Amino acid sequence: MALLNKRPHAVMLPFPAQGPINAMMQLAQILYARGFYITFVNTQYVQERISRSGSVESVKSPPDFRFETLPDGLPPEHGRTSKLAELSRSFTDNGPPYFDKLMDKLKHSQPDGVPPVTCIVSDGLVSFPQKIARKLGVPRVSFWTHSACGFSTYFFAPLLVEKGYIPLKDERCLTNGYMEQIIPSIPGLPHLRIKDLSFSLLRMNMLEFVKSEGQAALEADLILLNTFEDLDRPVIDALRDRLPPLYTIGPLGLLSESANDTISDISASMWTEETSCVKWLDCQDPSSVIYVSFGSITVMSREELLEIAWGLEASKQPFLWVIRPGLIDGQPDVLPTEFLERVKDRSFLVRWAPQMKVLSHPSVGGFLTHSGWNSTLESICAGVPMISRPFLAEQPTNGRFASEVWKIGVAMSEDVKREDVEDLVRRLMRGEEGQQMRKTVGELRDASIRAVREGGSSYTSMEKFVQEIKRGLD
Ligand code: UDX
Repeated sequence: MALLNKRPHAVMLPFPAQGPINAMMQLAQILYARGFYITFVNTQYVQERISRSGSVESVKSPPDFRFETLPDGLPPEHGRTSKLAELSRSFTDNGPPYFDKLMDKLKHSQPDGVPPVTCIVSDGLVSFPQKIARKLGVPRVSFWTHSACGFSTYFFAPLLVEKGYIPLKDERCLTNGYMEQIIPSIPGLPHLRIKDLSFSLLRMNMLEFVKSEGQAALEADLILLNTFEDLDRPVIDALRDRLPPLYTIGPLGLLSESANDTISDISASMWTEETSCVKWLDCQDPSSVIYVSFGSITVMSREELLEIAWGLEASKQPFLWVIRPGLIDGQPDVLPTEFLERVKDRSFLVRWAPQMKVLSHPSVGGFLTHSGWNSTLESICAGVPMISRPFLAEQPTNGRFASEVWKIGVAMSEDVKREDVEDLVRRLMRGEEGQQMRKTVGELRDASIRAVREGGSSYTSMEKFVQEIKRGLD
Protein backbone atom coordinates (compact mmCIF):
# COMPACT_ATOMS: atom_id res chain seq x y z
CA MET A 1 0.00 0.00 0.00
CA ALA A 2 2.87 2.37 0.79
CA LEU A 3 4.17 1.92 -2.75
CA LEU A 4 0.72 2.52 -4.19
CA ASN A 5 0.50 5.82 -2.36
CA LYS A 6 3.73 6.84 -4.10
CA ARG A 7 2.00 6.81 -7.46
CA PRO A 8 0.90 10.32 -8.53
CA HIS A 9 -2.79 10.67 -9.30
CA ALA A 10 -3.97 13.55 -11.50
CA VAL A 11 -7.64 14.49 -11.66
CA MET A 12 -8.21 16.24 -15.00
CA LEU A 13 -11.20 18.48 -15.66
CA PRO A 14 -11.53 19.99 -19.16
CA PHE A 15 -13.90 22.73 -20.31
CA PRO A 16 -16.77 20.80 -21.96
CA ALA A 17 -15.97 21.53 -25.64
CA GLN A 18 -14.09 19.36 -28.14
CA GLY A 19 -10.94 21.48 -28.56
CA PRO A 20 -10.24 21.85 -24.81
CA ILE A 21 -11.09 18.16 -24.24
CA ASN A 22 -8.61 17.09 -26.94
CA ALA A 23 -5.79 19.12 -25.39
CA MET A 24 -6.60 17.84 -21.88
CA MET A 25 -6.66 14.26 -23.20
CA GLN A 26 -3.24 14.71 -24.82
CA LEU A 27 -1.87 15.95 -21.50
CA ALA A 28 -3.53 13.05 -19.66
CA GLN A 29 -1.89 10.56 -22.01
CA ILE A 30 1.52 12.11 -21.46
CA LEU A 31 1.13 12.03 -17.67
CA TYR A 32 -0.14 8.45 -17.81
CA ALA A 33 2.93 7.45 -19.82
CA ARG A 34 5.05 9.03 -17.06
CA GLY A 35 3.46 6.83 -14.40
CA PHE A 36 0.45 8.87 -13.27
CA TYR A 37 -2.88 7.38 -12.33
CA ILE A 38 -5.51 9.41 -14.25
CA THR A 39 -9.09 10.34 -13.41
CA PHE A 40 -10.54 12.19 -16.41
CA VAL A 41 -13.73 14.09 -15.56
CA ASN A 42 -16.16 14.94 -18.37
CA THR A 43 -19.66 16.31 -18.16
CA GLN A 44 -22.31 13.60 -18.44
CA TYR A 45 -23.45 15.11 -21.74
CA VAL A 46 -19.93 14.96 -23.23
CA GLN A 47 -19.27 11.44 -21.98
CA GLU A 48 -22.52 10.18 -23.52
CA ARG A 49 -21.61 11.87 -26.82
CA ILE A 50 -18.17 10.23 -26.79
CA SER A 51 -19.71 6.80 -26.13
CA ARG A 52 -22.32 7.31 -28.85
CA SER A 53 -19.68 8.42 -31.38
CA GLY A 54 -18.35 4.87 -31.27
CA SER A 55 -14.99 5.96 -29.85
CA VAL A 56 -14.86 2.49 -28.34
CA GLU A 57 -11.28 3.04 -27.26
CA SER A 58 -12.59 5.25 -24.49
CA VAL A 59 -14.43 2.26 -23.07
CA LYS A 60 -11.31 0.10 -23.34
CA SER A 61 -9.11 2.45 -21.34
CA PRO A 62 -6.86 0.67 -18.83
CA PRO A 63 -8.07 0.35 -15.22
CA ASP A 64 -5.67 3.04 -14.02
CA PHE A 65 -7.04 5.58 -16.53
CA ARG A 66 -10.61 6.16 -15.42
CA PHE A 67 -13.47 8.38 -16.45
CA GLU A 68 -15.87 10.13 -14.07
CA THR A 69 -18.73 12.49 -14.90
CA LEU A 70 -20.37 15.65 -13.56
CA PRO A 71 -23.67 17.24 -14.58
CA ASP A 72 -23.45 20.57 -16.42
CA GLY A 73 -26.90 21.52 -15.14
CA LEU A 74 -28.46 21.91 -18.61
CA PRO A 75 -31.38 19.93 -20.10
CA PRO A 76 -30.48 17.37 -22.82
CA GLU A 77 -31.97 19.47 -25.63
CA HIS A 78 -29.89 22.60 -24.79
CA GLY A 79 -27.53 23.70 -27.59
CA ARG A 80 -24.57 23.93 -25.14
CA THR A 81 -21.55 25.06 -27.18
CA SER A 82 -23.84 27.08 -29.48
CA LYS A 83 -24.71 29.11 -26.33
CA LEU A 84 -21.32 29.29 -24.67
CA ALA A 85 -22.27 31.91 -22.06
CA GLU A 86 -25.10 29.71 -20.74
CA LEU A 87 -22.92 26.60 -20.78
CA SER A 88 -20.09 28.36 -18.91
CA ARG A 89 -22.41 29.78 -16.27
CA SER A 90 -24.36 26.58 -15.75
CA PHE A 91 -21.25 24.39 -15.50
CA THR A 92 -19.65 26.83 -13.03
CA ASP A 93 -22.83 26.91 -10.91
CA ASN A 94 -23.69 23.22 -11.00
CA GLY A 95 -20.35 21.42 -11.24
CA PRO A 96 -18.71 22.32 -7.89
CA PRO A 97 -20.85 20.29 -5.42
CA TYR A 98 -20.44 17.15 -7.54
CA PHE A 99 -16.75 17.78 -8.04
CA ASP A 100 -16.25 18.29 -4.29
CA LYS A 101 -18.05 15.01 -3.59
CA LEU A 102 -15.83 13.21 -6.10
CA MET A 103 -12.73 14.69 -4.50
CA ASP A 104 -13.91 13.63 -1.05
CA LYS A 105 -14.01 10.10 -2.39
CA LEU A 106 -10.63 10.32 -4.15
CA LYS A 107 -8.66 12.09 -1.44
CA HIS A 108 -7.84 8.79 0.28
CA SER A 109 -6.46 5.69 -1.38
CA GLN A 110 -9.29 3.38 -2.36
CA PRO A 111 -9.65 -0.32 -1.61
CA ASP A 112 -9.61 -1.02 -5.36
CA GLY A 113 -6.08 0.36 -5.67
CA VAL A 114 -6.79 3.99 -6.62
CA PRO A 115 -4.02 6.14 -5.07
CA PRO A 116 -5.00 9.39 -3.32
CA VAL A 117 -5.20 12.52 -5.47
CA THR A 118 -1.90 14.32 -5.97
CA CYS A 119 -3.02 17.24 -8.15
CA ILE A 120 -6.04 18.69 -9.90
CA VAL A 121 -5.50 19.88 -13.47
CA SER A 122 -8.43 21.94 -14.71
CA ASP A 123 -8.90 24.12 -17.76
CA GLY A 124 -7.98 27.78 -17.27
CA LEU A 125 -11.66 28.54 -17.82
CA VAL A 126 -12.68 26.08 -15.07
CA SER A 127 -11.20 27.51 -11.88
CA PHE A 128 -13.80 26.19 -9.42
CA PRO A 129 -11.56 23.27 -8.25
CA GLN A 130 -9.19 25.85 -6.70
CA LYS A 131 -11.00 25.88 -3.36
CA ILE A 132 -11.18 22.13 -2.98
CA ALA A 133 -7.53 21.79 -4.00
CA ARG A 134 -6.60 24.19 -1.15
CA LYS A 135 -8.78 22.22 1.27
CA LEU A 136 -7.13 18.93 0.28
CA GLY A 137 -3.66 20.47 0.29
CA VAL A 138 -2.92 19.48 -3.33
CA PRO A 139 -1.82 21.80 -6.15
CA ARG A 140 -4.35 23.07 -8.65
CA VAL A 141 -2.82 23.30 -12.08
CA SER A 142 -4.47 25.83 -14.39
CA PHE A 143 -4.12 24.50 -17.94
CA TRP A 144 -4.93 27.12 -20.58
CA THR A 145 -6.04 25.16 -23.61
CA HIS A 146 -6.63 28.48 -25.38
CA SER A 147 -3.74 30.24 -27.11
CA ALA A 148 -1.18 32.21 -25.08
CA CYS A 149 -2.27 35.42 -26.86
CA GLY A 150 -5.94 34.68 -26.06
CA PHE A 151 -5.17 33.93 -22.42
CA SER A 152 -3.15 37.11 -22.25
CA THR A 153 -6.12 39.24 -23.35
CA TYR A 154 -8.27 37.54 -20.67
CA PHE A 155 -5.62 38.12 -18.02
CA PHE A 156 -5.23 41.78 -18.95
CA ALA A 157 -9.01 42.32 -19.33
CA PRO A 158 -9.21 44.53 -16.20
CA LEU A 159 -6.73 46.90 -17.87
CA LEU A 160 -8.78 46.92 -21.08
CA VAL A 161 -11.93 47.70 -19.11
CA GLU A 162 -10.19 50.42 -17.11
CA LYS A 163 -8.98 52.08 -20.33
CA GLY A 164 -12.53 51.90 -21.71
CA TYR A 165 -11.88 49.64 -24.74
CA ILE A 166 -14.33 46.98 -23.57
CA PRO A 167 -17.15 46.09 -23.26
CA LEU A 168 -18.63 47.56 -26.44
CA LYS A 169 -20.94 50.42 -25.56
CA ASP A 170 -23.59 49.47 -28.11
CA GLU A 171 -24.16 47.81 -31.47
CA ARG A 172 -23.09 50.97 -33.32
CA CYS A 173 -19.49 50.16 -32.39
CA LEU A 174 -19.65 47.33 -34.92
CA THR A 175 -20.19 49.70 -37.84
CA ASN A 176 -18.73 53.11 -36.97
CA GLY A 177 -15.03 52.28 -37.25
CA TYR A 178 -14.59 51.71 -33.51
CA MET A 179 -13.48 48.10 -34.02
CA GLU A 180 -10.52 49.22 -36.16
CA GLN A 181 -9.05 51.24 -33.29
CA ILE A 182 -5.61 50.12 -32.15
CA ILE A 183 -5.02 49.12 -28.52
CA PRO A 184 -1.54 50.46 -27.75
CA SER A 185 -0.70 48.71 -24.53
CA ILE A 186 -1.34 45.09 -23.62
CA PRO A 187 1.96 43.85 -22.13
CA GLY A 188 3.68 41.38 -24.44
CA LEU A 189 1.16 41.68 -27.25
CA PRO A 190 1.63 43.54 -30.54
CA HIS A 191 -0.74 46.37 -31.29
CA LEU A 192 -4.04 44.58 -31.68
CA ARG A 193 -7.18 46.22 -33.04
CA ILE A 194 -10.31 46.03 -30.91
CA LYS A 195 -11.72 43.64 -33.52
CA ASP A 196 -8.83 41.23 -32.82
CA LEU A 197 -9.93 40.73 -29.23
CA SER A 198 -11.79 37.63 -28.13
CA PHE A 199 -15.53 37.85 -28.75
CA SER A 200 -15.86 36.78 -25.11
CA LEU A 201 -14.30 40.11 -24.07
CA LEU A 202 -16.47 42.25 -26.30
CA ARG A 203 -19.82 40.96 -25.03
CA MET A 204 -21.17 41.61 -21.57
CA ASN A 205 -22.60 38.08 -21.26
CA MET A 206 -19.12 36.50 -21.35
CA LEU A 207 -16.87 39.36 -20.21
CA GLU A 208 -17.34 38.91 -16.46
CA PHE A 209 -16.78 35.16 -16.77
CA VAL A 210 -13.52 35.30 -18.76
CA LYS A 211 -12.25 38.26 -16.75
CA SER A 212 -12.72 36.46 -13.47
CA GLU A 213 -11.27 33.19 -14.83
CA GLY A 214 -8.27 35.17 -16.14
CA GLN A 215 -7.68 36.62 -12.67
CA ALA A 216 -8.19 33.20 -11.04
CA ALA A 217 -4.92 32.16 -12.71
CA LEU A 218 -3.20 34.24 -10.00
CA GLU A 219 -4.45 31.77 -7.37
CA ALA A 220 -3.29 28.64 -9.21
CA ASP A 221 -0.20 26.78 -8.04
CA LEU A 222 1.06 26.16 -11.56
CA ILE A 223 0.09 27.29 -15.04
CA LEU A 224 0.45 25.26 -18.21
CA LEU A 225 0.22 26.61 -21.74
CA ASN A 226 -0.15 24.54 -24.90
CA THR A 227 2.44 26.48 -26.88
CA PHE A 228 6.22 26.61 -27.23
CA GLU A 229 8.75 29.29 -26.37
CA ASP A 230 9.97 29.98 -29.92
CA LEU A 231 6.40 30.67 -31.07
CA ASP A 232 5.12 32.95 -28.33
CA ARG A 233 8.12 34.27 -26.35
CA PRO A 234 7.06 37.95 -25.82
CA VAL A 235 3.54 36.94 -24.76
CA ILE A 236 4.85 34.23 -22.43
CA ASP A 237 7.49 36.52 -20.87
CA ALA A 238 4.89 39.19 -20.05
CA LEU A 239 2.65 36.58 -18.41
CA ARG A 240 5.51 34.90 -16.58
CA ASP A 241 6.45 38.20 -14.92
CA ARG A 242 3.02 38.41 -13.30
CA LEU A 243 1.80 34.88 -12.65
CA PRO A 244 2.60 31.74 -10.62
CA PRO A 245 5.18 29.37 -12.22
CA LEU A 246 4.25 28.99 -15.86
CA TYR A 247 5.34 26.09 -18.07
CA THR A 248 4.99 25.92 -21.85
CA ILE A 249 4.45 22.28 -22.83
CA GLY A 250 3.18 22.40 -26.40
CA PRO A 251 2.44 21.41 -28.98
CA LEU A 252 0.88 18.65 -26.90
CA GLY A 253 -0.20 16.82 -30.05
CA LEU A 254 3.48 16.29 -30.89
CA LEU A 255 4.59 15.59 -27.35
CA SER A 256 1.81 13.02 -26.82
CA GLU A 257 2.91 11.08 -29.93
CA SER A 258 5.69 9.70 -27.78
CA ALA A 259 3.21 8.66 -25.05
CA ASN A 260 2.72 5.02 -24.17
CA ASP A 261 1.27 3.18 -27.20
CA THR A 262 -1.17 1.26 -25.07
CA ILE A 263 -3.21 4.34 -24.40
CA SER A 264 -2.42 6.78 -27.18
CA ASP A 265 -5.60 5.52 -28.86
CA ILE A 266 -7.97 6.54 -26.08
CA SER A 267 -10.27 8.80 -27.99
CA ALA A 268 -12.26 11.71 -26.61
CA SER A 269 -14.03 12.57 -29.84
CA MET A 270 -17.71 13.45 -29.80
CA TRP A 271 -18.00 12.63 -33.51
CA THR A 272 -17.14 9.56 -35.56
CA GLU A 273 -14.08 10.21 -37.72
CA GLU A 274 -14.58 9.44 -41.42
CA THR A 275 -11.24 7.95 -42.32
CA SER A 276 -12.27 7.37 -45.96
CA CYS A 277 -11.12 10.92 -46.71
CA VAL A 278 -7.49 9.85 -46.18
CA LYS A 279 -7.80 7.37 -49.06
CA TRP A 280 -9.15 10.17 -51.21
CA LEU A 281 -6.21 12.37 -50.19
CA ASP A 282 -3.86 9.53 -51.22
CA CYS A 283 -5.05 10.06 -54.82
CA GLN A 284 -4.47 13.84 -54.95
CA ASP A 285 -1.37 15.76 -56.05
CA PRO A 286 1.13 16.93 -53.42
CA SER A 287 0.09 20.18 -51.63
CA SER A 288 -2.93 20.55 -53.94
CA VAL A 289 -5.84 20.17 -51.49
CA ILE A 290 -7.32 22.88 -49.32
CA TYR A 291 -8.76 21.45 -46.10
CA VAL A 292 -11.83 23.33 -44.82
CA SER A 293 -13.05 22.95 -41.26
CA PHE A 294 -14.56 25.27 -38.67
CA GLY A 295 -14.02 23.21 -35.53
CA SER A 296 -16.51 21.84 -33.05
CA ILE A 297 -18.51 24.87 -31.93
CA THR A 298 -18.94 27.22 -34.87
CA VAL A 299 -22.43 27.83 -36.18
CA MET A 300 -22.58 29.71 -39.50
CA SER A 301 -25.41 31.09 -41.61
CA ARG A 302 -26.54 29.26 -44.73
CA GLU A 303 -25.69 32.39 -46.74
CA GLU A 304 -22.08 32.20 -45.62
CA LEU A 305 -21.92 28.46 -46.27
CA LEU A 306 -23.04 29.12 -49.84
CA GLU A 307 -20.51 31.92 -50.37
CA ILE A 308 -17.74 29.58 -49.21
CA ALA A 309 -19.06 26.76 -51.39
CA TRP A 310 -19.18 28.85 -54.57
CA GLY A 311 -15.83 30.46 -53.77
CA LEU A 312 -14.26 27.00 -53.49
CA GLU A 313 -15.92 26.00 -56.73
CA ALA A 314 -14.56 29.06 -58.55
CA SER A 315 -11.04 28.53 -57.19
CA LYS A 316 -10.77 25.25 -59.14
CA GLN A 317 -8.74 23.84 -56.26
CA PRO A 318 -9.44 20.34 -54.87
CA PHE A 319 -10.90 20.53 -51.36
CA LEU A 320 -11.79 18.38 -48.36
CA TRP A 321 -14.59 19.99 -46.37
CA VAL A 322 -15.88 19.08 -42.90
CA ILE A 323 -19.57 19.88 -42.60
CA ARG A 324 -20.26 18.94 -39.00
CA PRO A 325 -23.88 18.24 -37.97
CA GLY A 326 -25.09 21.52 -36.48
CA LEU A 327 -22.62 23.70 -38.41
CA ILE A 328 -25.37 25.57 -40.22
CA ASP A 329 -27.70 27.73 -38.21
CA GLY A 330 -31.11 26.04 -37.89
CA GLN A 331 -30.86 24.44 -41.34
CA PRO A 332 -30.41 20.92 -42.59
CA ASP A 333 -26.76 20.64 -43.62
CA VAL A 334 -27.29 20.55 -47.38
CA LEU A 335 -25.47 22.04 -50.33
CA PRO A 336 -27.16 22.74 -53.69
CA THR A 337 -27.17 19.83 -56.15
CA GLU A 338 -25.73 22.06 -58.86
CA PHE A 339 -22.72 22.84 -56.68
CA LEU A 340 -22.20 19.18 -55.72
CA GLU A 341 -22.39 18.18 -59.39
CA ARG A 342 -19.77 20.77 -60.42
CA VAL A 343 -17.23 19.84 -57.75
CA LYS A 344 -17.76 16.09 -57.63
CA ASP A 345 -14.42 15.25 -59.28
CA ARG A 346 -12.29 17.39 -57.00
CA SER A 347 -13.93 17.42 -53.58
CA PHE A 348 -14.64 15.23 -50.61
CA LEU A 349 -17.18 16.11 -47.90
CA VAL A 350 -17.24 14.56 -44.43
CA ARG A 351 -19.09 15.18 -41.18
CA TRP A 352 -15.93 14.83 -39.08
CA ALA A 353 -12.36 14.16 -40.22
CA PRO A 354 -9.28 12.68 -38.55
CA GLN A 355 -7.87 16.22 -38.59
CA MET A 356 -4.31 15.56 -37.46
CA LYS A 357 -3.90 12.85 -40.12
CA VAL A 358 -5.47 15.11 -42.73
CA LEU A 359 -3.26 18.11 -41.98
CA SER A 360 -0.09 16.03 -42.06
CA HIS A 361 -1.05 14.36 -45.35
CA PRO A 362 1.33 15.42 -48.18
CA SER A 363 -1.63 16.30 -50.44
CA VAL A 364 -2.87 19.04 -48.10
CA GLY A 365 -1.43 22.45 -48.95
CA GLY A 366 -3.72 24.87 -47.09
CA PHE A 367 -6.31 25.12 -44.32
CA LEU A 368 -9.41 27.32 -44.31
CA THR A 369 -10.03 27.43 -40.56
CA HIS A 370 -11.98 29.13 -37.77
CA SER A 371 -8.59 29.62 -36.02
CA GLY A 372 -9.46 27.64 -32.90
CA TRP A 373 -6.27 27.13 -30.96
CA ASN A 374 -5.97 23.38 -31.46
CA SER A 375 -6.54 23.72 -35.19
CA THR A 376 -3.99 26.53 -35.43
CA LEU A 377 -1.37 24.57 -33.54
CA GLU A 378 -2.08 21.39 -35.51
CA SER A 379 -1.66 23.34 -38.74
CA ILE A 380 1.69 24.73 -37.54
CA CYS A 381 2.86 21.23 -36.57
CA ALA A 382 1.96 20.01 -40.05
CA GLY A 383 3.58 23.00 -41.79
CA VAL A 384 0.30 24.06 -43.46
CA PRO A 385 -0.51 27.78 -44.02
CA MET A 386 -3.99 29.05 -43.23
CA ILE A 387 -6.90 31.22 -44.28
CA SER A 388 -8.51 32.52 -41.13
CA ARG A 389 -12.24 33.04 -40.68
CA PRO A 390 -12.75 33.41 -36.90
CA PHE A 391 -16.19 33.06 -35.33
CA LEU A 392 -15.96 33.15 -31.53
CA ALA A 393 -13.87 33.06 -28.35
CA GLU A 394 -10.20 34.00 -28.92
CA GLN A 395 -10.25 32.92 -32.57
CA PRO A 396 -9.87 36.54 -33.89
CA THR A 397 -6.69 36.97 -31.83
CA ASN A 398 -5.31 33.67 -33.12
CA GLY A 399 -6.17 34.64 -36.70
CA ARG A 400 -4.46 38.01 -36.29
CA PHE A 401 -1.34 36.33 -34.93
CA ALA A 402 -1.33 33.87 -37.84
CA SER A 403 -1.47 36.63 -40.46
CA GLU A 404 0.40 39.54 -38.84
CA VAL A 405 2.79 38.09 -36.24
CA TRP A 406 3.78 34.65 -37.49
CA LYS A 407 2.99 35.47 -41.16
CA ILE A 408 1.65 32.01 -41.89
CA GLY A 409 -1.86 32.92 -42.96
CA VAL A 410 -4.22 35.33 -44.61
CA ALA A 411 -7.34 36.78 -43.03
CA MET A 412 -10.85 36.62 -44.50
CA SER A 413 -13.23 39.48 -43.75
CA GLU A 414 -16.28 38.59 -41.64
CA ASP A 415 -18.59 39.64 -44.46
CA VAL A 416 -17.66 36.59 -46.52
CA LYS A 417 -18.05 36.92 -50.28
CA ARG A 418 -17.44 34.16 -52.82
CA GLU A 419 -14.98 36.34 -54.81
CA ASP A 420 -12.85 36.78 -51.68
CA VAL A 421 -12.88 33.05 -50.94
CA GLU A 422 -11.78 32.33 -54.51
CA ASP A 423 -9.05 34.98 -54.35
CA LEU A 424 -7.70 33.89 -50.94
CA VAL A 425 -7.65 30.21 -51.91
CA ARG A 426 -5.71 31.07 -55.09
CA ARG A 427 -3.25 33.28 -53.21
CA LEU A 428 -2.65 30.63 -50.57
CA MET A 429 -2.44 27.59 -52.84
CA ARG A 430 -0.86 28.97 -56.00
CA GLY A 431 0.57 32.45 -55.35
CA GLU A 432 4.07 33.52 -54.34
CA GLU A 433 2.63 34.82 -51.09
CA GLY A 434 1.39 31.30 -50.32
CA GLN A 435 4.84 29.88 -51.10
CA GLN A 436 6.43 32.28 -48.63
CA MET A 437 3.89 31.43 -45.93
CA ARG A 438 4.49 27.71 -46.53
CA LYS A 439 8.21 28.29 -46.03
CA THR A 440 7.63 30.28 -42.82
CA VAL A 441 5.19 27.78 -41.35
CA GLY A 442 7.66 25.01 -42.26
CA GLU A 443 10.27 26.78 -40.12
CA LEU A 444 7.80 27.00 -37.24
CA ARG A 445 6.98 23.30 -37.68
CA ASP A 446 10.71 22.53 -37.34
CA ALA A 447 10.88 24.73 -34.24
CA SER A 448 7.89 22.89 -32.74
CA ILE A 449 9.63 19.55 -33.34
CA ARG A 450 12.79 20.84 -31.65
CA ALA A 451 10.71 22.04 -28.67
CA VAL A 452 9.31 18.56 -27.94
CA ARG A 453 12.57 16.65 -28.52
CA GLU A 454 14.67 15.63 -25.53
CA GLY A 455 16.38 18.82 -24.31
CA GLY A 456 13.86 21.07 -26.12
CA SER A 457 11.96 23.79 -24.23
CA SER A 458 8.59 21.99 -24.02
CA TYR A 459 10.15 18.60 -23.30
CA THR A 460 12.16 20.11 -20.44
CA SER A 461 9.16 22.04 -19.07
CA MET A 462 7.10 18.87 -19.05
CA GLU A 463 9.82 17.04 -17.15
CA LYS A 464 10.02 19.88 -14.61
CA PHE A 465 6.25 19.92 -14.21
CA VAL A 466 6.13 16.15 -13.64
CA GLN A 467 8.96 16.36 -11.11
CA GLU A 468 7.21 19.23 -9.35
CA ILE A 469 4.04 17.16 -8.91
CA LYS A 470 5.96 14.03 -7.90
CA ARG A 471 7.83 16.03 -5.26
CA GLY A 472 4.49 16.44 -3.48
CA LEU A 473 4.54 12.66 -2.86
CA ASP A 474 7.73 12.75 -0.77
C1 UDX B 1 -12.88 26.05 -29.05
C2 UDX B 1 -12.67 27.43 -29.60
O1 UDX B 1 -13.32 27.49 -30.84
C3 UDX B 1 -11.22 27.77 -29.70
O2 UDX B 1 -11.02 29.06 -30.17
C4 UDX B 1 -10.54 27.64 -28.41
O3 UDX B 1 -9.16 27.86 -28.60
C5 UDX B 1 -10.77 26.27 -27.85
O4 UDX B 1 -12.16 25.99 -27.84
P1 UDX B 1 -12.98 24.29 -31.16
O5 UDX B 1 -14.04 24.92 -31.94
O6 UDX B 1 -13.26 22.95 -30.65
O7 UDX B 1 -12.36 25.05 -29.92
O8 UDX B 1 -11.68 24.37 -32.12
P2 UDX B 1 -10.21 23.86 -31.92
O9 UDX B 1 -9.58 24.41 -30.71
O10 UDX B 1 -9.53 24.12 -33.20
O11 UDX B 1 -10.38 22.30 -31.71
C6 UDX B 1 -11.03 21.46 -32.61
C7 UDX B 1 -10.47 20.08 -32.42
O12 UDX B 1 -11.30 19.15 -33.10
C8 UDX B 1 -9.07 19.94 -32.99
O13 UDX B 1 -8.24 19.20 -32.11
C9 UDX B 1 -9.28 19.16 -34.29
O14 UDX B 1 -8.22 18.29 -34.62
C10 UDX B 1 -10.53 18.37 -33.98
N1 UDX B 1 -11.28 18.12 -35.21
C11 UDX B 1 -11.93 19.14 -35.83
C12 UDX B 1 -11.30 16.84 -35.71
O15 UDX B 1 -10.67 15.93 -35.16
N2 UDX B 1 -12.01 16.61 -36.84
C13 UDX B 1 -12.70 17.57 -37.49
O16 UDX B 1 -13.34 17.26 -38.50
C14 UDX B 1 -12.66 18.89 -36.98
